[in-house]
Amino acid sequence: MTGNEVRKNFLSFFASKGHTVVPSSPLVPHNDPTLLFTNAGMVQFKDVFLGLDRRPYKRATTAQKCVRAGGKHNDLDTVGRTARHHTFFEMLGNFSFGDYFKKEAIEFAWEFLTRVLELPQERLWATVYQDDEEAFKLWQEIAGLPPERIIRMGEKDNFWSMGDTGPCGPCSEIIYDRGPEHSCGAEVCALGVCDCDRWLEIWNLVFMQYDRDAAGNLTPLPRPSIDTGMGLERIASVLQGVESNFDTDLIRPLITAVEKLSGRRYSRGEEGFPFRVIADHARSCAFIIADGVLPGNEGRSYVLRRILRRASRFGMVLGLEEPFLYRLVPVVAEIMSEAYPELAAREGDLMRIIRQEEERFHATLHEGLRVLGGILAGAEKEGRREVTGQEAFVLYDTYGFPLDLTEEIAGERGFSVDREGFARAMEAQRERARAAREEDKGYELEITLGSILGDVKPTVFTGYTSWEEEGVTLALLGEGERVQALEAGEKGWAVFDRTPCYPEGGGQVGDRGEVSWSGGRAAVLDTRRLPAGKILHELEIKSGTLRPGARVRIAVDVERRRATARNHTATHLLHRALKEVLGEHANQAGSLVAPDRLRFDFTHFAPLTEEELKAVEARVNEKILANLAVDTLETSLQEAKAMGAIALFGEKYGERVRVVKIGEYSLELCGGTHVRNTAELGIFRLTGESGIGSGLRRLEAVTGSAALEFLAAERAELERAAALLKVPVNNVSRRVEALLTQVKGLERELASLRSRLASYEVDRLLAEVKEVNGVRVLPARVQVTEAEALREMADLVRAKMGSGVVILGSASNGRVNFVAMASKDVVARGVHAGNLLREVARVAAGGGGGRPDMAQAGGKDPSKLEEALFYSLRVVAQQVASAGSERS
Ligand code: ALA
Repeated sequence: MTGNEVRKNFLSFFASKGHTVVPSSPLVPHNDPTLLFTNAGMVQFKDVFLGLDRRPYKRATTAQKCVRAGGKHNDLDTVGRTARHHTFFEMLGNFSFGDYFKKEAIEFAWEFLTRVLELPQERLWATVYQDDEEAFKLWQEIAGLPPERIIRMGEKDNFWSMGDTGPCGPCSEIIYDRGPEHSCGAEVCALGVCDCDRWLEIWNLVFMQYDRDAAGNLTPLPRPSIDTGMGLERIASVLQGVESNFDTDLIRPLITAVEKLSGRRYSRGEEGFPFRVIADHARSCAFIIADGVLPGNEGRSYVLRRILRRASRFGMVLGLEEPFLYRLVPVVAEIMSEAYPELAAREGDLMRIIRQEEERFHATLHEGLRVLGGILAGAEKEGRREVTGQEAFVLYDTYGFPLDLTEEIAGERGFSVDREGFARAMEAQRERARAAREEDKGYELEITLGSILGDVKPTVFTGYTSWEEEGVTLALLGEGERVQALEAGEKGWAVFDRTPCYPEGGGQVGDRGEVSWSGGRAAVLDTRRLPAGKILHELEIKSGTLRPGARVRIAVDVERRRATARNHTATHLLHRALKEVLGEHANQAGSLVAPDRLRFDFTHFAPLTEEELKAVEARVNEKILANLAVDTLETSLQEAKAMGAIALFGEKYGERVRVVKIGEYSLELCGGTHVRNTAELGIFRLTGESGIGSGLRRLEAVTGSAALEFLAAERAELERAAALLKVPVNNVSRRVEALLTQVKGLERELASLRSRLASYEVDRLLAEVKEVNGVRVLPARVQVTEAEALREMADLVRAKMGSGVVILGSASNGRVNFVAMASKDVVARGVHAGNLLREVARVAAGGGGGRPDMAQAGGKDPSKLEEALFYSLRVVAQQVASAGSERS
């Protein structure tokens, strides 16, 4: 039975038992900061178990993609060492939400294993939680298991929880005995005592009964429920009669691909370890990235980076020195596409992202390995068997070595790593970063003001539909305290019962405007939101006195708001366009929407190319010209998601959400203000692209009149250039081309003049040749700045001089350069240009050397240049004399 068939059989078996087949949820758990990755089938049902969410069904079944790498369930270090652990795997599960409980759960599982899969009953064992008499009895009654094949276990093994908090309960596991030939050979290799590959846990039935809080207290769930999980790869290994999960049709093709890439053969033993790690990690990387995570330095992104780099390093162990992991993506996609079509759909993206991260790692890997080698050698010398935390941190920070990679490599050579010291070094760096970061004063202000205004009612915001509003002044604030009046000339803050002014939020800046009342007027400088729905207006009183209770007329600065709305609508168009041009991974990570410009940060792994930028800009302008209506609607979060609206990751949304819809093009949750129709944007123009951290890019853009101004400025610049070039605007580039050609010609001419000049100079120099012990020597100072030019000149001199040795020196920028060249016959007489220059350069505080016939050197003291050159006469004399004495 293939892996795909097992998955299908499982789902259809439970469908036949009244379960709704629910698709796998993404690996990034929705709205659950307590969890890095979806690590079990029940994760998407967490709130249903807790009674916080309802579904139209009471029984469900899934094949869920899971990652266990980090957090409570972490198998990163175990992968490849056993036959059955993975960072990525699929969990088959059936769930009951307050419907059936233990009895049916055991019945279903037993029926599926023994009737559908036809596993031999005598191979099956069960474990139960130590006090769970009920489960113990049920296993005897339903399955006819003899008591000695039902093992009682403690909390560690048979009490399951998703994480430190959340739904949990006692569980019962079904174990498949693979037979004594798979035993580890320990004296007592028995279930409950031994953890080896003989005793394969295939299915875990959790009797969900409690919710655990952060303090560890257990509260009973509203209704006892069932959560089960069976590892697809494990059950496939049993059904396919193979040694390990890695030999199943779900994973083995990956190992074969690695064999092909590396030209080495896989073996099941210790030497096969790198193959297994790579095969496992290739699957996690592809699936994690497909669910929108990019490699980085925090949280999920960091886990991904660790997995990817670990695989890359094991590739090197197999002699794969070039990026290779990305080439496994098509293999993963091929195996898994039937159940997870998202892989094939994004294959190109996934390959690019993985390859880029591999390249980034390779760039520092060799240097890092060298540094680590040095660290280990140093430790050895000092008699340490431990890499210090600081050393590990340098490897992390400068060479991109995740801690576990350092641990692994150090471990292979018998060293440990000071984990705590590493954590301290990391924390110290965070602290520095925190201190360096400007304190978020605005946030503190909000907290203070929020508490001062505790009794004030929330403000009704009417600014989606109106620009002017009548309201009542509820409270006034001066310097951090409530005041009873704001006088002309004073600045302060006001809360009204209603306002059309948009408070800063969702990246959109706060409105400005004007407030008037009988006898006075104030400018609104900014509008912000406080917790609990209060809206704060920063005022500057122009005339009169404003007091609490005053009736006011509040008007938004309409031009500014319109310009801001244009940019807000533009960010939505841009978001959509980026996804179309770059791929679905381009997710908004932040934005600024101001009247004069917009800024949009998003996840992407490389700078945008010229073509990509053009395509994005063109796409947005196309949608502007298409005259698309912008509509908003209010609905439930569920409904909005079902419609396919983009929600920003990590953003908190209430029960009711506002959805902004631009034609059929874009659908996004958003509380901001927009134009009515994309045509109002006039034109969209990108003005900047930059990187703002690993995997994050930033685009800047303008619309409407700001875009026109931008274009006008470009035009003016072009006109200035045209005027300087004295040509019409449309001839500028042709004229520049002509000028560049002309410049090249002039440069060539200059070079030839220079070399003619140099040959005159050479003639002058030749007049100064000296003779030492019958050898012609020419030490001379020349006026060139480049070492290259100096060498050329020495070549010329040597050519014209014939027999002899030339030593040229030049000084520029506080440095001295020397070059020496000797003809063959004088070399034969004992002259050695390399040795000569070494001594000469020393006089000018430098060093160097080279061959007998040619050498270069440098020095740091130009004031000693003449002295050094003069000294060369003596050195030549010595060289010739000592060679002569050796010969005689
Ligand atoms: N949630 C249970 C597990 O992961 C089934 O083992």
